[in-house]
Amino acid sequence: MDDKTKWNEKYNKRLNDEPVEPEPNRRLKDRVSFFSGGTALDIACGLGGNSILLAEHNFHVQAIDISDVAIKYVQEQAEKKQLPIDTRIYDLTKLNKLNWKDQSFDIVVITYYLDRALFPIVKSVIKENGYFFMETYYLTPEKEGKGVSNQYKLQPKELQTEFADWTIHYFEENEQEGRQTIFCQKP
Ligand SMILES: C[S@@+](CC[C@H](N)C(=O)[O-])C[C@H]1O[C@@H](n2cnc3c(N)ncnc32)[C@H](O)[C@@H]1O
Repeated sequence: MDDKTKWNEKYNKRLNDEPVEPEPNRRLKDRVSFFSGGTALDIACGLGGNSILLAEHNFHVQAIDISDVAIKYVQEQAEKKQLPIDTRIYDLTKLNKLNWKDQSFDIVVITYYLDRALFPIVKSVIKENGYFFMETYYLTPEKEGKGVSNQYKLQPKELQTEFADWTIHYFEENEQEGRQTIFCQKP
């Protein structure tokens, strides 16, 4: 089954079984004091919990995902709440067709989607002094072989190393939950 079909099935089930609005990432929400509006990019946005948080804090958001089911839901939420969220259905593995301009976003957010080919792109599309927030699974002995496949996991401290020349405002590895989080600012 391809990724689009897989995620559409998951989201159809989730929206049917549990019709509650998605929550934003807690650690992103804890950083709202840094937000001063502008342009935001939510990569692999899913049902858009993070996009809505950003739009509610004066960002004009571009939300992108492969799942048309998720994107339709985000669009409906944006219309209902009258929030500035532009949505786009796109397969991020086909990066060549993305037309983001260098230094065009004040913040980029990626949660629970890992494609290392995005790192150089993220670094160039964020404006000087702009922010990057990312959280996803990383390789821990505790979680080895359980749940998420290792191919979708970061190495220990990987984001800290990848963004070592940025100002790192927050970095956390939670061994029990097997997640790594970074919030950093471009020099
Ligand atoms: C674990 S979900 C995370 C969603 C959201 N960021 C969150 O934290 O709730 C992974 C997301 O990646 C999207 N995705 C998977 N493969 C993709 C691809 N090739 N291009 C774009 N989005 C993709 C899925 O549709 C799904 O919404």
